Parts: sequence; structure tokens; C-alpha cells
Amino acid sequence: MLKLARGIGIAAALLVSSSAIAQEVEVMHWWTSPGEAAAVNVMKEQLEKKGIKWVDAPIAGGGGQAAMTALRARVVAGDPPTAAMVLGYDIKDWAELNLLGDISDAARQDGWDANYPDAYKFFGEYNGKWVATPFDVHSTNWLWLNKAAFDGLGVAEPTDWDSFIAMLQAAKDKGLIPLAHGGQSWQDAVLLGNVTIATGGIEFYRKAILQQDKQALGSETMRKVLERVLQLKDFMDSNAPGRDWNLATAMVIKGEALTQTMGDWAKGEFVAAGKKAGDDYMCLRFPGTQGVVSFVADSFVVFNVSKADKAAQIEFVRTLMSPEFQEPWSVLKGAVPANLKANDALLDACGKKAFAEYKEAAASGNLVGAIQLFSAPAAIRSAVEDVVSRLLSGDLNVDGALAGVVASADAAQ
Ligand code: GAL
Repeated sequence: MLKLARGIGIAAALLVSSSAIAQEVEVMHWWTSPGEAAAVNVMKEQLEKKGIKWVDAPIAGGGGQAAMTALRARVVAGDPPTAAMVLGYDIKDWAELNLLGDISDAARQDGWDANYPDAYKFFGEYNGKWVATPFDVHSTNWLWLNKAAFDGLGVAEPTDWDSFIAMLQAAKDKGLIPLAHGGQSWQDAVLLGNVTIATGGIEFYRKAILQQDKQALGSETMRKVLERVLQLKDFMDSNAPGRDWNLATAMVIKGEALTQTMGDWAKGEFVAAGKKAGDDYMCLRFPGTQGVVSFVADSFVVFNVSKADKAAQIEFVRTLMSPEFQEPWSVLKGAVPANLKANDALLDACGKKAFAEYKEAAASGNLVGAIQLFSAPAAIRSAVEDVVSRLLSGDLNVDGALAGVVASADAAQ
């Protein structure tokens, strides 16, 4: 946070509009994979129908690290986009710098307070004002499986750790890559989050990952989590390091690999490839995490730019938060609508299941921020990501990684 504040410095106070033309939005995002790009078109088309020109500002790089670097540079230069995709705790960082437009009027007009669960409001509001649009529900605790490859194994659907490992082993015995993985730190962290919930349960996840409780982080349960993460490395291929998430998904789509554990943006890739849920691929909750939804909410913030752009910004955020947008968007993006009033009619079997589970989890308290961006402020998150990546690369052993996750709790200070 401090680093961001220093980097932006005085330029922040001097923000000027990037464009004086009314009724257009320049939107910065990181949606460049085939599935993501198809979904962006829905956003673009809905706005253009309302007379708002879409100026596309994509910055490639799953997980958004490159986009966040680009965004900081734009803001420092006094040239922010009209809107930018910013997720989770990063929203709070920008809000704290007083750079974000207040969209509370739109929220009041359209009843966001009633239509979104508390876990979502937490990431949409700052100091009692709406400053972001957490508009969809992605969740990270999924397994995506190639159905033909799975059927060929003759095993039951995995529901716990042992049956999961047995399935991976059966694939390995057949000469199939069991687990398609992209060895980038944010993807490694997705693995860690899922294994943490599967191993310690939701209360342990809350303590260790959301609250950074040192006792939980240094516990035997956490050791087991790290051992299990390392165990999964035996089922990855040697080209995993550095691989983009959507290329790992493509391996499952083509049947080169059995499964991938990844947020349901992976489903967008299956859809873009013309594959059908249930026929060509399967969606299972990551074994041991049934009933939990570890969410990632795609969100945009708008910057304090000129008055001329304000009207377009408001139309933009109202569109994002409406069921009419979220329903078709979700089909292509692999997400489900975050608006509790939305309808699931357009969704496929995986989507219907995900939407029902989201609503149940929101009511029961089992809706928790995913380790990717929604678990903790940036400094803590990147310390944890670094530890798990070093564990998977062989740079740290389990003891070293355990000490590393305990130390990560201090990263915020
Ligand atoms: C997430 C984002 C998703 C998807 C994914 C991979 O952070 O919420 O929408 O784009 O990254 O790029």
C-alpha cells in the first residue's frame, strides 16, 4: 500500500481526463484468452447499444499482474483509463488513495445493497461508499476434467484426497498427463488455496489464509497442506513452469491431460472451443471442498475523471451490475451472476450448479474470498504466492515453506 502511495505521489492529485469526449469508456482489463475475449464482446455490445463507445485497453497476463503495473503507470502519468478491472483487496488500496469515483448513487438507484451478499459488498464498498462493481462469481475450487479421458480410467468421481490421488495415479499409469498446471505464482496459489480448504476445512482456511493466524499457519495441518501441494507436483508435466492458465486448460480440452484445477474462467475456454458440459467435459468441486465457494469477483473501478466522462461511467457500472448483462456474460465467461436476483435459465449444468452453490454459500457463510486477490492485501498475498512457488520449484522444502508462510503474516507491516 505504502509503495503504491509513494509511486503515485503527487500526480494523483492532478488527475486529468484521458478523453474529453462524452459517452465513451476506455476500459482496462486482462481478458485476452479466447474465452475471455468472447465474453468481453458481450460487455462491449451492451454498452454500444446504449450509445457508449468502447475503447478497449487489454493488457495480457492471466491473474492481472501486468495490468496492475500498467494501470499504476497510467495513473502516475496523470492519464488513467475511464474504468479499470481491479479486484479484491487491490480495490481498497486504490480507494484509500482517494482516486476512485463514488458510484453510490447508481448503487442506490439499482438496489445493490439488497441484491448482493455481504461478502461481495465488502469488496464493492470503501468507507460506506460504493467504489467498485463485484459483478460476477468465479470460484477457484473446481476440477475441470476431459470426460472421455476420465471415462477411460474406470474410476469413480473423486470426493476426497485419497480418491483424487487415486484418479491422478490411474491417469499417470495410462501415460496421460494427470494434472495440467501452469507454474506461475498466482496459479500455484490457486492450488494452495484449494488444498488448504480440502485439508483443513473452511474454518482453518479462514484462520490461516484470511486472518493470517500464525498458530494456524505454523500448524501440523498447514504442514500437511504443503506436503499435499508438493505431492501434486508428481502429477504435473515438466513443462508446467511458466505456462499460461489457458494453455493448461487447452491440454484438458484436447485430452492431452486429464484435469486442471482452476477458477471457472477455464470453463470459458471449453465454451469457446465448442465443448459441452457433461458431454465433453466435467466440472467437479475440488475434492474435499464441496459446499464451499472460494470466490473471485470480477470488478471494475472508475477513476475521478472529467465530468464529461461521468455519465458514461455510471451507465457502465449500472450495466455491469444488472442481471440483463450478467446472465449472457456468465455463459461465455464461465462465471455465474453475482446479482442474487439474476436468473439461471441461460446457464449450463455446471453454471446452474455454481449459481445454486453461490446462493447457498452466501446464506450459510461458506462464501470465502479466494486466495487469488480476495484473501489478503497485496503484500501478504505475494509473500504466500512466493512461498508456494518456491516449494513447487524445489527452492524450498516443506520445512522452509512452513516457516515462509508463518513469516508471510508479517508482510503487511
Ligand atoms: C482472474 C479473473 C478472471 C480471469 C482470470 C484469468 O483474476 O477474475 O476473470 O480473467 O483472472 O485471467
